[in-house]
Amino acid sequence: MTCWLCVLSLQLLLLPAAPPPAGGCPARCECTAPTRTVACARRRLTAVPEGIPAETRLLELSRNRLRCLNPGDLAALPLLEELDLSENVIAHVEPGAFANLPRLRVLRLRGNLLKLIPPGVFTRLDNLTLLDLSENKLVILLDYTFQDLRSLRRLEVGDNDLVFISRRAFAGLLALEELTLERCNLTALSGESLGYLRGLSALRLRHLAIAALEDQNFRRLPGLLHLEIDNWPLLEEVAPGSLQGLNLTSLSVTHTNITAVPAAALRHQAHLTCLNLSHNPISTVPRGSFRDLIRLRELHLAGALLAVVEPQAFLGLRQIRLLNLSNNLLSTLEESTFHSVNTLETLRVDGNPLACDCRLLWIVQRRKTLNFDGRLPVCATPAEVRGDALRNLPDSALFEYFVCRKPKIRERRLQQVTATAGEDVRFQCRAEGEPAPTVAWVTPQHSAVTSASTGRARVLPGGTLEILDARPQDSGTYTCVASNAGGNDTYFATLTVQPEPAANRTLGEGRNETLAAARFPLDLTTILVSTAMGCITFLGVVLFCFLLLFVWSRGRGQHKNNFSVEYSFRKVDGPAAGAGQGSSRKFNMKMI
Ligand SMILES: *[C@@H]1O[C@H](CO)[C@@H](O)[C@H](O)[C@H]1NC(C)=O
Ligand SMILES: *[C@@H]1O[C@H](CO)[C@@H](O)[C@H](O)[C@H]1NC(C)=O
Ligand SMILES: *[C@@H]1O[C@H](CO)[C@@H](O)[C@H](O)[C@H]1NC(C)=O
Ligand SMILES: *[C@@H]1O[C@H](CO)[C@@H](O)[C@H](O)[C@H]1NC(C)=O
Ligand SMILES: *[C@@H]1O[C@H](CO)[C@@H](O)[C@H](O)[C@H]1NC(C)=O
Ligand SMILES: *[C@@H]1O[C@H](CO)[C@@H](O)[C@H](O)[C@H]1NC(C)=O
Ligand SMILES: *[C@@H]1O[C@H](CO)[C@@H](O)[C@H](O)[C@H]1NC(C)=O
Ligand SMILES: *[C@@H]1O[C@H](CO)[C@@H](O)[C@H](O)[C@H]1NC(C)=O
Ligand SMILES: *[C@@H]1O[C@H](CO)[C@@H](O)[C@H](O)[C@H]1NC(C)=O
Repeated sequence: MTCWLCVLSLQLLLLPAAPPPAGGCPARCECTAPTRTVACARRRLTAVPEGIPAETRLLELSRNRLRCLNPGDLAALPLLEELDLSENVIAHVEPGAFANLPRLRVLRLRGNLLKLIPPGVFTRLDNLTLLDLSENKLVILLDYTFQDLRSLRRLEVGDNDLVFISRRAFAGLLALEELTLERCNLTALSGESLGYLRGLSALRLRHLAIAALEDQNFRRLPGLLHLEIDNWPLLEEVAPGSLQGLNLTSLSVTHTNITAVPAAALRHQAHLTCLNLSHNPISTVPRGSFRDLIRLRELHLAGALLAVVEPQAFLGLRQIRLLNLSNNLLSTLEESTFHSVNTLETLRVDGNPLACDCRLLWIVQRRKTLNFDGRLPVCATPAEVRGDALRNLPDSALFEYFVCRKPKIRERRLQQVTATAGEDVRFQCRAEGEPAPTVAWVTPQHSAVTSASTGRARVLPGGTLEILDARPQDSGTYTCVASNAGGNDTYFATLTVQPEPAANRTLGEGRNETLAAARFPLDLTTILVSTAMGCITFLGVVLFCFLLLFVWSRGRGQHKNNFSVEYSFRKVDGPAAGAGQGSSRKFNMKMI
């Protein structure tokens, strides 16, 4: 061992002095003949070393001190297939620097100081498939920079200071499949520049300060399958048309500031199989949010601020296999939320303040077969089972906590109230059940009033219906509906509102009308116009009367009081009718 080290150090000492042997290995590099690899990483090189064998296929020059690359530097290596120049201090690459490398497939320039790539740097790299320019200082990508890279499949330009991508920067990248733009200072995406990437299948846009997704952004990327939008803190909305023209299989919009499920934008993404909306401040999943996603298999909404998943929120998700709702604020997840829970294989609902009652019975029933990904859901209430994992509850607990009691409305005496307009009216509806039922009222006009309603009618915390400033049109039968996961109970109350005495009517003072028709706007113009209309009508009627009088008085002098009315019988077919034919009769009428 020691001897081997001695020999090696002796060689190292001797080699710099000796001229590089022809077809040998340059000083400070390691050459592996069978793979034709020359490795010169971390050797404090300031220039491409001399004497690299001409048949080299892989040249490793990372973590050195190279400052620039000139056209001659690599000219003697026409068989090079892979070149790694990462983590040097390269600030300039001259046009033509890679011109003699027609077989080059991989070029790594990550972690240098490039500010600008002049046109012509990448000419004749027909076989290049991977180009890594990340972690440089690029501010702008110029038109036609990548023009000749017609085989390029992957381009990394992340972690630059990019503020602008010129419209034709990506022209010529016909084979590009993956593009990652990350940690740039871009404030907008240009649909036109992306439009050159006809073959793009994966687009990753991470850590960007872009505030809006616009309709045209991705329209010209018909082959895109994977779109990732991650860490866009300024993004507050995914516009309805922003995914137009796409036919995605996976979409990820994470760590943004969107507060609602982008249901409209997700329309027509019928081939989507994986959707990741984790880590967004979304609080509610409304009914039918994912209606068109009939092939969706994975849905991630972890670490959001989800408090409510409405019944039928997952309507249409017929193939859902994995649902990840971990670390939210959910107290329950009802079976009615799903199209069918039978497709579900993996469920993450850990990290939620779950109320262990009959609404979670469907999970308990499947607790031996569902995959919880190692994170068992845990009860937060009731107090007796707090902290217990749903899966480990003994059967006795199941009967105690996971059985629903249908709501029952107490005090069922009929409430019939007669009120005068303007009064406030209240109807009670106290219901019991397990879990505690929610109470809603249905008005005679068949609209629902809940505790969230605003306007003259609302439901108070105990289930009491309150109608402020009652109006005659509020009269009718009100239905109280108390419901929980176990079922519902109903109960009726009738209201009769008598009109208010006219003296007490003061206009404009009333509260907002939500039950009744809209209020008439009353202002000076309206009053003036109506007064004028009234006067004109009145004058018109008077004039008409005078006219009638005048005509009548004239007629009195000229005409007789008798009218002669002559008529003939209608012609009737048949011989019997012959007698009456042609004969006419006269009547005399007297005008009174
Ligand atoms: C590109 O690579 C292929 C093999 O992968 C090779 O046959 C072809 O000659 C190369 N093109 C050029 C211009 O060298
Ligand atoms: C890009 O953003 C970073 C951090 O916000 C900033 O330090 C840098 O100066 C910006 N670069 C340009 C070119 O604006
Ligand atoms: C996210 O949105 C909230 C309000 O919706 C706002 O107060 C906050 O500043 C936004 N965050 C960022 C990083 O823009
Ligand atoms: C969308 O993509 C699927 C395959 O992922 C394909 O079968 C379908 O034809 C595509 N639809 C359109 C309109 O391009
Ligand atoms: C969803 O996005 C989050 C945040 O970016 C990430 O941590 C998680 O791995 C993603 N999940 C999937 C399945 O891609
Ligand atoms: C659920 O989401 C969390 C947070 O994004 C992630 O760490 C976890 O891997 C996801 N679980 C599954 C099964 O995808
Ligand atoms: C009440 O329960 C019945 C079945 O018991 C159901 O048909 C009805 O739709 C429920 N009504 C409401 C408002 O939930
Ligand atoms: C009518 O108004 C008077 C005072 O303005 C009030 O005392 C009376 O109670 C009101 N009557 C009704 C039926 O509201
Ligand atoms: C009346 O409606 C306005 C807005 O339409 C609202 O700001 C106000 O709070 C409402 N007043 C009442 C008493 O409901």
